[in-house]
Amino acid sequence: MRGIDDLEVRGRVVLLRADLNVPLDGAAITDDGRIRASLPTITKLAARGARVLICAHLGRPKGTSYAERAAAGPSLEPVAGRLGELLGAEVTLAGDVAGTDAAAVAAGLADGQIGMLENVRFEPAETSKDDGQRAELAARLAALAQLYVGDGFGAMHRRHASVYDLPGLLPHAAGYLVLAEVAVLRRLTQDPARPYVVVLGGAKPSDKLAVIENLLDKADRLLIVGGMSYTFLKAQGHEVGHSLLEADRIPQVSAVLAEGARRGVEIVLPVDLVGATGYAPDAEHEVFPVTGFPSDRESLDMGPATRALLADKLADAQTVFWNGPAGVFEFPAFANGTRAVAEAISHLSGLTVVGGGDSAAAVRALGFSGSSFTHISTGGGASLEYLEGRELPGLAALEDAR
Ligand code: 3PG
Repeated sequence: MRGIDDLEVRGRVVLLRADLNVPLDGAAITDDGRIRASLPTITKLAARGARVLICAHLGRPKGTSYAERAAAGPSLEPVAGRLGELLGAEVTLAGDVAGTDAAAVAAGLADGQIGMLENVRFEPAETSKDDGQRAELAARLAALAQLYVGDGFGAMHRRHASVYDLPGLLPHAAGYLVLAEVAVLRRLTQDPARPYVVVLGGAKPSDKLAVIENLLDKADRLLIVGGMSYTFLKAQGHEVGHSLLEADRIPQVSAVLAEGARRGVEIVLPVDLVGATGYAPDAEHEVFPVTGFPSDRESLDMGPATRALLADKLADAQTVFWNGPAGVFEFPAFANGTRAVAEAISHLSGLTVVGGGDSAAAVRALGFSGSSFTHISTGGGASLEYLEGRELPGLAALEDAR
């Protein structure tokens, strides 16, 4: 895959597809990790005299037409503002995605200046399943620039116009973030140092069953935590009360447990849970063994015995991949499980990768620095699909030489 150092960018408009899909509370950015992770490519392109035109998505705007989606938002305005602060430079946000205002912003950029298109998902064609609709949008985006750089690793698993169709229309290269993410994921998939321990959490097993099935071939130990662990516990016959449950996945989860046992992969589940009276930061709560969880409680976190067990199962790991929080870390009273996982991993000297989305936000929210881990990925779904062994459409498009 060509990198940006292989492109002659001075004086040319470079359309940079970044993943700036940050969590928002209203218009306030609650974790700017993805913006920070995009800085090396942006600053390097600007320093080399490129006219940088950033294209990104934010959230999943609702509506069937451009007008409906633009009215519903979210606008990239807070993101452009934060990026400008971090760069110490103005970032001009266009009023549209690939219309007259976008063209005016692109035409107005001087060498080294940075502009941004509005939320590319305001264009319904961006995420369309119809190849023709996506191609039409890709052509309009291509007309704004002379070069394309793909650096939105977190969106590489999406067959979207700006990720998948557009690179084929312009000379293109991968940005530093994409190259770094791919290098780390390769280390996880090609001959990882052992023991290789994978910690999977987050709300739903359905999001992660495919990766678990694939990891049964590769990992030595799988630690299942957080919301998804309750379906596993239920599959083993335990009461989980009102805890998150995907009852329709129980047969698949049972099959995964049986397959793990057959292949000698250790699958570790919680042994105690923090049962709360409801889903609230100040909900009354108590620790219960999984063998005696009350039917009127909801688990929001892992108990102390589970935390100790997780630390023990991580202690000898030479390679770790962690995706998904171990509890409702957003509520301080229920952040102990997630903190324990982060803590245990942060003490290891081998390759440690925190995979994207919520877990990346969690480690930052809990005060862990980036240097506590080898790599904090910006890609949640993208890193999982990579580990599933699936081809990521955005990466495949960048690999095609043009
Ligand atoms: C993400 O947040 O994982 C990426 O930005 C992709 O967003 P999406 O899941 O809405 O496609």
